[in-house]
Amino acid sequence: MGWNVYVTRQIPDAGLEMLRGACARVDVHEGETAPSRDGLLKAVRGRDGLLCLLSDRIDAAVMDAAGPSLKGVANYAVGYDNVDVAVATARGIPVSNTPGVLTETTADLAWALMVASARRIAESDSFVRSGRWQGWGPKQMLGVDIHGKTLGIVGAGRIGQALGKRAVGFSMKVLYCDVGRCAEMEKACGARRVPLEELLRESDFVSLHVPLTAETQHLIGKRQFELMKETAVLVNTSRGPVVDEAALVEALRSGRIFGAGLDVYEEEPKLKPGLAELENVVLVPHIGSGSVETRQKMAEMAAANLLAMLKGQRPENCVNPEVFDKRT
Ligand code: DGY
Repeated sequence: MGWNVYVTRQIPDAGLEMLRGACARVDVHEGETAPSRDGLLKAVRGRDGLLCLLSDRIDAAVMDAAGPSLKGVANYAVGYDNVDVAVATARGIPVSNTPGVLTETTADLAWALMVASARRIAESDSFVRSGRWQGWGPKQMLGVDIHGKTLGIVGAGRIGQALGKRAVGFSMKVLYCDVGRCAEMEKACGARRVPLEELLRESDFVSLHVPLTAETQHLIGKRQFELMKETAVLVNTSRGPVVDEAALVEALRSGRIFGAGLDVYEEEPKLKPGLAELENVVLVPHIGSGSVETRQKMAEMAAANLLAMLKGQRPENCVNPEVFDKRT
């Protein structure tokens, strides 16, 4: 008790109430946007705990600013590339994330982006609203079929597997690539593991589900777009820098691929020049986990993780559990 924590944004009440019920002081950054770098460095001073978002860069400077009282960093996301985990581990600070609760919701969005891109939903919506529609036309807004096609899933983790299950209802063939074999993926949708190049050549839809690491940065760039079918659609709900966004703009502009559905961007919230002008891309603002139910579960999970770390306990979703091994 007596803990002093900082939360970098208004998360759903359920999580804040858990923290307020157990901590002496809970300060929450107001407003829709992230605290400025200076604001964050000031706000973390002397805190026992930090609950942060994927848009907050939590590095050595932030940990230094918090000082020796810092007992844990709870990230309100499953991805934690925004936290310098190596630095946290070296300092004995545990870091947690929110896996599992957002799997199905994020797979729903990946599926929605696939459908929206294939069937030109956003473009058609604008067309109707603008008053340009003159009536039914045999060649109007033609898209590509989804059912019976091949879905390539890059990354066979929880979300990739959940997407594979959705493909079964659309009679799709599923290919996947990952560093190892995934028996669950193969069982759930009859998926076959292939190298990335083969997946890109054979798939009608390519959906990305890898974490952002040094190895996955720009995993999909000019060379990879050259391998893809001209009728293919790329979907990215993982992290923006997994795709070379400038190369994607070029691939979409030149018709190298049919379309794309993006939830994430290289430098959120900025878009690479030209992206917003293209009609063959559906753009949504990083809402993969954005359902009322899931964001509430994430808030509860992040708060529970932070409370455990404040007590010196290993949180259920610890990404650097070795800090606890060192303690014993
Ligand atoms: C995550 O959790 O990593 C998503 O990108 C946002 O919910």
